Amino acid sequence: MSVALDDLARRLPGLRLLAGAGDLEHYGRDWTRRWTPAPLAVALPATVEEVQGIVCWANEHGVAIVPSGGRTGLSGGAVAANGELVLSLERMNRVLGFDAADRTLTVQPGMPLEAVHAAARGHGLVYPVDFAARGSCSIGGNIATNAGGIRVIRYGNTREWIAGLKVVAGNGELLDLNRGLVKNSSGYDFRQLMIGSEGTLGIVVEATLKLTDPPPPAQTMLLALPDMDAVLAVFGLFRAKLALQAFEFFTDIALKHVLAHGAQRAIEGEYPYYVVTEFDVPDEAAQEAALAVFGEAMEQGRVLDGVIAQSEAQAAALWRLREGITESLAPHKPYKNDVSVRIGAVPAFLHAMQALLAREYPHIEVVWFGHIGDGNLHINVLKPAGMADADFIAQCEHVTKLLAATLKEHGGSISAEHGIGLVKRPYLDSTRSAAEIALMRGVRQVFDPNGILNPGKLFEAD
Ligand code: MLT
Ligand code: ZN
Repeated sequence: MSVALDDLARRLPGLRLLAGAGDLEHYGRDWTRRWTPAPLAVALPATVEEVQGIVCWANEHGVAIVPSGGRTGLSGGAVAANGELVLSLERMNRVLGFDAADRTLTVQPGMPLEAVHAAARGHGLVYPVDFAARGSCSIGGNIATNAGGIRVIRYGNTREWIAGLKVVAGNGELLDLNRGLVKNSSGYDFRQLMIGSEGTLGIVVEATLKLTDPPPPAQTMLLALPDMDAVLAVFGLFRAKLALQAFEFFTDIALKHVLAHGAQRAIEGEYPYYVVTEFDVPDEAAQEAALAVFGEAMEQGRVLDGVIAQSEAQAAALWRLREGITESLAPHKPYKNDVSVRIGAVPAFLHAMQALLAREYPHIEVVWFGHIGDGNLHINVLKPAGMADADFIAQCEHVTKLLAATLKEHGGSISAEHGIGLVKRPYLDSTRSAAEIALMRGVRQVFDPNGILNPGKLFEAD
């Protein structure tokens, strides 16, 4: 053990510390798999006091900390490849309280999102942010990246659902931010500043989440469509006539991978585009309205085929076609873009982007899917067998530069919901102005004067 680690063990005798090769590898990486994990050690605190103790120790010894949740991130935000201490919050994973009057659930940061869902359901309510990694990601990580997912169209991002946060700042101080207040017009809202800050300003040690009523019964539909213009037109039609809970699209290439990975085909025949959509059907009238809209889209030739789930099991099977995509692509080491534009700017951006990708990736498989109703597209570029990792990344980075310029022209963002981390750091200036980035650095300096929290993520370390 190093002198610094000896000192940490001496100061916090109850702290669980891991330094075995397997643990360093496991806790040093996220789902990006691009960097070789090389942390100094892994600390698994069980209390807020231990988190504070670690942060104070890190300041004294000049050791960087990588805050760590479920490490399902796709931008390298939780990668520890430079001798950092990984501070895993996985042992701090309990519900701390439920307030029926406020309709809030207070939890520790290491709780998996799925466990948060279950706890909310236990009180007859829901925590509505949801996405495929629900079983493995943690609520603390969701907060650090302002996670979005499949129901943003109805409920918004994580940011909308945080009533209060307790955070250990970079100087070790414990901040109690907003304390669950609905109305609080008393100056800067540091709670919101922490959300999406990717562990660079503070470590979330407790979160008070807003809950809401369960949605009405829903129906799930899979649609097959001829082209991207039809996807956008059908979105407009469905949004105008139905109460949407989700509207997700993917291409035939995505379907090919997800079927090869074990999902069940739901529509016979091959079509270029697919949509999984879910909408409220509180009564028979709503059900009839949904059938009428479906019929209208078929008549217009914008929907070529479709399936309406007749049971929960069938709905889950349709969802698997969309939610299984990330896992099915993982063996192909995808380079991931996660971009967004205003909903109104989607058609023009899509045409420019389609032309760019066809030109720049002529012999490479590119998979599109995502949350089209939020203006958020996932572009996964698959590494051809036999191509060296470094050559593949270099080519993708070249194209991402061009994509970033296209996004800038259309007023979009280089990261819709995965965060900047290490992967998108070179392109931050396509989305944020120089003045904004300078302010971001200044804010970081205030909360973390010695730059020990997740240095190198979001922007280069000072
Ligand atoms: C998803 O929506 O499935 C993920 O955020 C996208 C991805 O894996 O690129
Ligand atoms: Zn997504």
